[in-house]
Amino acid sequence: MSNTNVVHFKYLPMSMRVLFTWVLIVFGMGYLMAMIQVWESHAGKDGDPMLSGKDLMIAYGGNPEGTKLETALRGPMQDMLPAEKREVIFNWLHAGAPQEDYDAKIRPIMEEHCVMCHTPEANPHLPDLRDYAGVSKMTGKDEGMNIATLVRVSHIHLFSITFIFFIVGYIFTHAYMRTLWLKCLLIAAPFIVLITDVASWYLTKVWAGFAWAVIGSGAIMGISFAAMWIISMWQMWLGRVPDDVNARNGRVPCIHGDH
Ligand code: HEC
Repeated sequence: MSNTNVVHFKYLPMSMRVLFTWVLIVFGMGYLMAMIQVWESHAGKDGDPMLSGKDLMIAYGGNPEGTKLETALRGPMQDMLPAEKREVIFNWLHAGAPQEDYDAKIRPIMEEHCVMCHTPEANPHLPDLRDYAGVSKMTGKDEGMNIATLVRVSHIHLFSITFIFFIVGYIFTHAYMRTLWLKCLLIAAPFIVLITDVASWYLTKVWAGFAWAVIGSGAIMGISFAAMWIISMWQMWLGRVPDDVNARNGRVPCIHGDH
């Protein structure tokens, strides 16, 4: 008795499916790159090369046992210098980073391995490691990302991810699923966890355990992205429209052209 058509990708014109497919392919590549970037910038901060909850706690909330310099040298900066020189820096840091040892022990290492990138000329956004004054800004207690940085990263994150999931979710609205609530959940989930993700970055500063909410949110976002991607691609090109759906709609799939 229903007069509403059931949707299915196969009823869409060929040109629209081609558009959707290429958008999904490029977004899929983008998602992969984003994952590599998360790994690169956070894994290993706690000394263990795998990405862990501890790494995220340190990234957002800081590391009460360490300094920014040590965190960086155990994380993204660890390949910038040989292990024995890293030990020299760690020993100096653990001795309280005394200024009188700086010129003899630390300056030569910084000059050889770090200053090509860490000067205001080379990169104004990186800490200046040319002298003791600059380095000592990195030897205080590691308090994680400051609020200004978090606000900057959150607004970029909120806008860009909403944009991506609006497009992927819009494409996915054309999918046929027998359970409507599940379809709606797949569409809504990324937005819900986007909010819990960003909120947890700040909350990690209050209680480090919120790092697990960051990881959980990221996992759910990835799962919904993958599910929408696979179902859309499958229905556009491989799956066929179930007979009862065709019968209910009183039509056949649009496979021959742009009508
Ligand atoms: C090839 C360029 C390059 C070299 C060489 C390099 N760095 Fe970096 N460093 C970066 C970049 C880019 C970032 C910021 C991105 C990131 O955190 O991965 C960074 C970030 C850092 C940070 C974190 C800054 C912060 O605000 O938390 C520290 C500390 C640091 N580097 C120390 C060093 C030390 C010490 C060396 C030498 C052993 C070194 N870097 C060598 C490019 C470099």
